[in-house]
Amino acid sequence: MKNKTTVISEDQLKLQLDFCHKTAAYWREQSVTPLAYVETYGCQQNEADSERIRGMLIECGYGITDTAEGADVVVMNTCAIREHAEQRVFGNLGALTHTKRRHPGQKIFLCGCMAGQTVVTDRIKNSYHHVDGVFSTHHLWQFPEILWRVLNQKKRVFYIEDEAGSIAEGLPQHRDNTLKAWVSIMYGCNNFCTYCIVPYVRGRERSRKPEDILAECRALIEGGTREITLLGQNVNSYGKDLECGMDFADLLEAICAMDGDFLVRFMTSHPRDASKKLFDTMARNPKIAKQLHLPFQSGSSRVLKAMNRHYDREIYLEKVRYAKSLMPELVLTSDVIVGFPGETEEEFEETLSLIEEVRYDALFTFIFSPRPGTPAASMDDPTPREEKNRRFDKLCALQNRISEEIHSGYVGRTFRCLVDGRDKDTLTARTEGGRLVRFAGDDSLIGSYHNITITGSTTWSLTGELTLTN
Ligand code: SAH
Ligand code: SF4
Ligand code: F3S
Repeated sequence: MKNKTTVISEDQLKLQLDFCHKTAAYWREQSVTPLAYVETYGCQQNEADSERIRGMLIECGYGITDTAEGADVVVMNTCAIREHAEQRVFGNLGALTHTKRRHPGQKIFLCGCMAGQTVVTDRIKNSYHHVDGVFSTHHLWQFPEILWRVLNQKKRVFYIEDEAGSIAEGLPQHRDNTLKAWVSIMYGCNNFCTYCIVPYVRGRERSRKPEDILAECRALIEGGTREITLLGQNVNSYGKDLECGMDFADLLEAICAMDGDFLVRFMTSHPRDASKKLFDTMARNPKIAKQLHLPFQSGSSRVLKAMNRHYDREIYLEKVRYAKSLMPELVLTSDVIVGFPGETEEEFEETLSLIEEVRYDALFTFIFSPRPGTPAASMDDPTPREEKNRRFDKLCALQNRISEEIHSGYVGRTFRCLVDGRDKDTLTARTEGGRLVRFAGDDSLIGSYHNITITGSTTWSLTGELTLTN
């Protein structure tokens, strides 16, 4: 693997745009408007990448469709975080043999985090012959060239060489939602938590230049975006690889200095790097949503060490206490893994007691899934699956009770919420803390902030009424 971040030059990007225009001309000559379908698995990072893939496809003359049936191009943007995620992709990929049979010109591409693993690409090469092109996250910016080659050379194309990673500014981008936008501020991860595949498939940590991020945010705000979510695997280490004198808290401050009625959110924060300065900046700044996703993974210091997380239970709890003391309304969410190799019953109980102590608004809960090539995959793991399932169920029951209790405390209170869409017969809105509120109202409310009084709650969401004194 190369170690240094590559900055993709303007010339290289122009070459890709030339491929886009050649592809658009190829279809124009046949008087066809081709259709493309992009299916996204995994996290917001992949969602953001899919917006770029759609942008490139539009530049290549494609219309975007929401089904693989009849599409001229299908792109599967995949996730490798757990075995289950990979199985789903392989299942859905298998089903594409039928759509391709019905539409023989269909070109199928697989990209994203699974495409960064040799075991996966070997399997595609050998057993999934209907897949025309595979490219890892490092080669995303070369998609126009890959597409052109597949269309013209009539052979399968693999862009999967392992790299430290690159930064490509100025790629076309098609956002699904302009009201709420993702902005990647950095790519990759250097942490190598022992269970995690991400550093292997997304390369080393690399930050975008502040001026590029600020220009993107400014354009979004001027275009009517009301919520910007800054993305990175570990946003708190933003800027460490640049010599720009700006850390993540400074970047937040610079974004909030822009005029406009908007909120900034961010994810994910690694607890080790979540600094007092970050919490002070959040507390001071009304444009930063009082919401924090701070994955703890385990409540046991021994397990945290085995996970290579670089904090222990007490350090984590201390940070949470500090953040809550500054921001009593803070909505806290987290990720937790049950059944890490060697986790004892007592250690699992420590996870439960940490959850009781912090009282998260919501948790993303996972059972450990061994990822080939990561250190944890070869650790001794004597706990049977049924026992892990039992722990998992117990943890979920605890969290559901807490979420329900916290949500019922919303009832009778009024919150300023961004109305973001319609789901069947109700409008949907989000509180500043990101909680989902359903209420009755007219579509004309979508896109702006309104005061909503909460009238009911469940484990997962809230119901409310528009406050007329708005
Ligand atoms: N960068 C983020 C997390 C990215 S992955 C962070 O460090 O917090 C999202 C979540 O998936 C992780 O927080 C972890 O809880 C879970 N996860 C990652 N690898 C896993 C594995 N091998 N088995 C089960 N859960 C895993
Ligand atoms: Fe994975 Fe850890 Fe990096 Fe998060 S910080 S992406 S869990 S290695
Ligand atoms: Fe999955 Fe890759 Fe995100 S492995 S969770 S899509 S960074």
